[in-house]
Amino acid sequence: MNAFSRFGEKFNRYAGITQLMDDLNDGLRTPGVIMLGGGNPAAIPAMQDYFHRATASLLESGELLAAMSNYDGPRGNDAFIHALASLLQQTYDWPVTANNISLTNGSQSAFFALFNLLAGPQRNGIQKKILLPLAPEYIGYRDAGLEDELFVACRPQITRLEGGMFKYHVDFSALPLDEDIAAICVSRPTNPTGNVLTDDEIHRLDALAQQRGIPLIIDSAYGTPFPNIIFTKATPLWHDNIVLSMSLSKLGLPGLRCGIVIASEAITQALTNINGIVSLSPGGMGPVVAGEMIASGTLLPMSREVIRPYYQHKAQQAVVMLQAAIDVPGFHIHQPQGAIFLWLWFEGLPITTLTLYRRLKARGVLVVPGEYFFFGMSDEDDNWRHRSECIRMNYVQDEDSMRRGIEIIAEEVKKAWQN
Ligand SMILES: Cc1ncc(COP(=O)(O)O)c(C=O)c1O
Repeated sequence: MNAFSRFGEKFNRYAGITQLMDDLNDGLRTPGVIMLGGGNPAAIPAMQDYFHRATASLLESGELLAAMSNYDGPRGNDAFIHALASLLQQTYDWPVTANNISLTNGSQSAFFALFNLLAGPQRNGIQKKILLPLAPEYIGYRDAGLEDELFVACRPQITRLEGGMFKYHVDFSALPLDEDIAAICVSRPTNPTGNVLTDDEIHRLDALAQQRGIPLIIDSAYGTPFPNIIFTKATPLWHDNIVLSMSLSKLGLPGLRCGIVIASEAITQALTNINGIVSLSPGGMGPVVAGEMIASGTLLPMSREVIRPYYQHKAQQAVVMLQAAIDVPGFHIHQPQGAIFLWLWFEGLPITTLTLYRRLKARGVLVVPGEYFFFGMSDEDDNWRHRSECIRMNYVQDEDSMRRGIEIIAEEVKKAWQN
């Protein structure tokens, strides 16, 4: 066994995100498994048709081959960056120029660079952290720090709504905005819950970040301006204290590994330099396909008119199936406001959801136990029972698989209560 460095030891761990990607990989290849676990986007027929036609025409014109046979610069494909800057200026009147945009190989790698750029040990010895104002938060952040304990996360307020629904809110009275906070970060819509922070919450976080002179990072992997998987009112916001992260993945192109970061010129330059060192340059095929969507004027309309209604319909269908099938005390669903997941809360469940996950996996149904999404919390909050009462399921599978998966979840939850 090799002795690895500190970096090696940290990144050689079998992280929650790696387990999730393994489950996704196994699930996709094992016949009969019902994959309610991973974050793969749905194969939306109209989007797949569009991508088929667009890539055939880009192949024909030679643009795709040119992208495959050349390196872009470390900031990413210039033509796409300029086209995106114009689109955002024209659509939202944002003061974005090409100097505010950099690309990465998927937004996951943008977060690795961003978090470690801003937080961690500073020259003056302070160990800076990223504040996640509302846990549960995206599992993919959890292990991204070069140092352990990069995050401070806060327990949310829970509002109980009619019809067995609930919604999380930021508890502004509990935010530890101490000296050691380097940035505030939220996913909007949130993975895992499908929560969309309200405009008011975003404005308050934005004001707090500006007061402290720290960036507000908004992870818009599912959000505005694209792919716009948001079923509630959410106004897109950017100025140069906001780091807005986007991705082509949830448009339906996760294999192209293209993340987009819109930030101040200083952060954009830093991400560009990191790209050069870590990967020479980001992949060029995503920008060519997305560039074609901008040129043909289809990027924002398809997000609004094809992608959003598709997911909204699937989410509503899944809620109806869940409410019909699951009949145990304390069952609640987080109000589905966006993203591609439902977040189920089994209040008072006699087993942890990690145990429930294992029992479901043994029966061929993959979900994600809620425990993974609560990290960076205080010791007191670590003992908060709610953490082990929730599961995340995606709702992108076909109707039949959804129904069978939900029936099995209902049976296992019922058994847990009976025993
Ligand atoms: C909230 C959120 N952010 C970022 C990512 C990373 O996505 P990608 O690296 O495919 O852009 C994901 C992936 O599921 C996500 O759910």
